[in-house]
Amino acid sequence: MARSSTGMKWVSVFTLLILSLLALTAFAEDGSIDDDMKRITGLVGNGDFEATPSNGFPNEAIVEGPSEIPNWKSNGSVELVESGQKQGGMILIIPQGRHAVKLGNDAEISQEVPVEKGSIYSVTFCAARTCAQLESINVSVAPASQTVDLQTIYSIQGWNPYAVSFNADQDTFSLVFKNPGMEDDPACGPIIDNIAIKKLFTPDKPKDNAVINGDFEEGPWMFRNTSLGVLLPTNLDEETSSLPGWIVESNRAVRYIDSDHYSVPQGRRAIELLSGKEGIISQMVETKPDKLYSLTFSLGHADDKCKEPLAVMAFAGDQAQNVHYTPNSNSTFQTANLNFTAKAERTRIAFYSIYYNTRSDDMSSLCGPVVDDVRVWFSTSNRLRGLGLVRLGLGILGLVWLLM
Ligand SMILES: *[C@@H]1O[C@H](CO)[C@@H](O)[C@H](O)[C@H]1NC(C)=O
Ligand SMILES: *[C@@H]1O[C@H](CO)[C@@H](O)[C@H](O)[C@H]1NC(C)=O
Ligand SMILES: *[C@@H]1O[C@H](CO)[C@@H](O)[C@H](O)[C@H]1NC(C)=O
Ligand SMILES: *[C@@H]1O[C@H](CO)[C@@H](O)[C@H](O)[C@H]1NC(C)=O
Ligand SMILES: *[C@@H]1O[C@H](CO)[C@@H](O)[C@H](O)[C@H]1NC(C)=O
Repeated sequence: MARSSTGMKWVSVFTLLILSLLALTAFAEDGSIDDDMKRITGLVGNGDFEATPSNGFPNEAIVEGPSEIPNWKSNGSVELVESGQKQGGMILIIPQGRHAVKLGNDAEISQEVPVEKGSIYSVTFCAARTCAQLESINVSVAPASQTVDLQTIYSIQGWNPYAVSFNADQDTFSLVFKNPGMEDDPACGPIIDNIAIKKLFTPDKPKDNAVINGDFEEGPWMFRNTSLGVLLPTNLDEETSSLPGWIVESNRAVRYIDSDHYSVPQGRRAIELLSGKEGIISQMVETKPDKLYSLTFSLGHADDKCKEPLAVMAFAGDQAQNVHYTPNSNSTFQTANLNFTAKAERTRIAFYSIYYNTRSDDMSSLCGPVVDDVRVWFSTSNRLRGLGLVRLGLGILGLVWLLM
């Protein structure tokens, strides 16, 4: 009798364990869905500058004096500009809709944005330059700031979406866009439009891949209608990166692209490398010294009329290898791999484009090879598949043994 009740106990302990494991799994899934709902995403208040000021837009102003821009505080020469508006014979570029804002020398706009303390937020905005060659924009959430260089013309449209990111130390962001320039012509200055934020989360490290966010699915806010991707400028701080896990360690940007407008090897997002050696993404991955690893990735064509040849230089520790994209009528990408022996606890993997590519239709918009689905794992991982389950089983047995 005593024996059988012990047996019963065994069974119920086991059932409990299995049930709680199942519950944990379910909870984890629900948790991430909940997280999704909580994220504040999209345009900030009047982030597209289309809301009509109380005294009307400048050209139809009923009241004398500068238009107050709804939702924003401004300081210095801040001007609401309209599509079709000319300046010095040139038509001003309005990235989206009918209106945008132009920041004169030392001028700034700011807004308080509610955020979740302790989280990382990415800020996406569109910017165009007017006349000055050395235009830049300083985006800040005190005490952090990032200066984005608008000198390089990445696309023939004359404007681009950019993303920068900040850590939320408080419950609100005092988000400031400032033109740090001191041009001779005070009418010059960058045009800003479409300002949106997105709370980022760092994807968990997959079980069989040392690369975090190797599929690039987590990244900055993207505008559904915008076909220009989002440029990720230099960011050496992996803790606050618009592309969790990765840094952009070059002085030029790389382009974050979406499957709605580009060919993407896997999932909905990928990275297009631009500007040859001047556009480098990298990540330090955890490795075990002296173990043999394999770096695999997808290399593709974004289907954006980018003029071939396309090729990347891939790095893993002290190994480097160039991989040329081979056009194939059946697929817009291929997989490539690079074997290496880890020398330390952390190994740097990195990619840049070997060529300086432009689009074949306009000969000036920058483009390049697409990288996606980056994985680093023990070179022999195929033979070890299934070991995870065995380990789980042993773990449960161990727990039961402890409980007895
Ligand atoms: C406006 O900008 C000027 C110059 O940058 C600065 O000295 C001043 O404190 C600013 N004013 C406000 C209200 O932020
Ligand atoms: C950008 O703005 C912040 C906040 O106003 C300031 O602290 C920082 O020095 C500025 N950076 C540059 C390069 O102007
Ligand atoms: C996207 O397109 C729709 C319809 O064409 C338009 O109403 C909306 O303002 C656009 N949004 C952006 C961000 O361009
Ligand atoms: C494309 O697919 C077809 C049918 O699967 C195959 O016969 C052909 O060799 C493939 N072409 C290339 C370039 O791989
Ligand atoms: C890497 O090693 C695997 C087997 O471990 C092999 O199939 C593959 O061809 C190697 N790759 C390179 C680029 O040498």
